[in-house]
Amino acid sequence: MAKKSVFDFTNMVENGEKIVYLTAYDYLTAKMQEKAGIDMILVGDSLGMVTLGYDTTFPVTLDDMVRHCQAVRRGAPNTFIVGDMPYMSYQASDEDAVRSAGRLVKEGYVDAVKLEGGGPRILSRIKAINESGILVMGHIGLTPQFAGQIGGYKAQGRSAKAAIELVKQAKLIEEAGAFSILVEGVPSAVGKAITERASIPVLGIGAGPYTHGQLLIYADMVGLYDNFTPKFVKKYANIGEILVNAFKEYAKDVRENRFPVDGEHTYKMKQEEEKELLSLLD
Ligand code: KIV
Repeated sequence: MAKKSVFDFTNMVENGEKIVYLTAYDYLTAKMQEKAGIDMILVGDSLGMVTLGYDTTFPVTLDDMVRHCQAVRRGAPNTFIVGDMPYMSYQASDEDAVRSAGRLVKEGYVDAVKLEGGGPRILSRIKAINESGILVMGHIGLTPQFAGQIGGYKAQGRSAKAAIELVKQAKLIEEAGAFSILVEGVPSAVGKAITERASIPVLGIGAGPYTHGQLLIYADMVGLYDNFTPKFVKKYANIGEILVNAFKEYAKDVRENRFPVDGEHTYKMKQEEEKELLSLLD
C-alpha cells in the first residue's frame, strides 16, 4: 500500500473515515504495524519509559529520537511517521526547534514532527517549523513535558474555563500552520468541541470517541508495559504474559536438559569427520 500523505488524511476526515495512529519505537514493531495497515505511526518520546526504562520522558535526547525514528522507518517504509520532539529540543528558541525538527526529518526519515504545548512560545515554534517546510503536529491537553505546570500526569480541561482554553489553543495551533493536532487526556466533550471546530485532522489519546482518529501507546494496548495503565487504554492482547511464560519454559527446558535436542536444534557433522575428530581428540 502507498504511504499516506496529509492530503489523504484530510480526505479521510472529509469522508468520515477514522485515522488509526499507534506509537512504535523499533524495527520489528513498526514492521508489524505496517503489515496491519496502521495509517500513522508516532515515534513518541514515551520511548523513554517504554523502551529505555526511565520514569518520565524528560531524559530522552534528540539523538535517542533520531536513532529510534530510523529503526521505525526501516520497519515501516510505507507508513506516515511522526517523530516526537523531546524535552528541550525546541523550548529555548525557534532556531532550536527548526534545527531539531530538521534532524528528525533529515536523519530520522520522519514525515512530520510533533511538539507539546499551546502557549505563545510554542505557537511561534510551530510557525517557524512549518515555514521551514516541515509538517508539524500540535499536542495539547495532558502534555507530559509540562507535567510540573499542569499538576502532574492527569486529565486536563475538566472545568468549563480550562476546556475553553484548550479549544482556543487548538484554533491557534491550526492558525500557526500545524497540519494536525493531537489532544491527550481530556473529557470526551472537550475532544468533541475541539474536533467540531477544527479544519485540520484532530487525533485523540484519551480524548473520547469524537476525534478524527485515535492514538494509543502500542505497549499499553498489547500488555507489554505494565508499570502503569491509563484509564483510556483498551487491552487487545497480553503479550507480556505470553513472553514471561515463554522465557520460563525456556529456562526450565535448559535446566532440565530438554533443550537443545541433538539432531533437532543442532548442526550435523559428516560421520567420517566426526570419527576423525574423535581420533584426533584421542
Ligand atoms: O510520546 C508519546 O508517545 C506521546 C503520546 C503519549 C501522545 O506523546
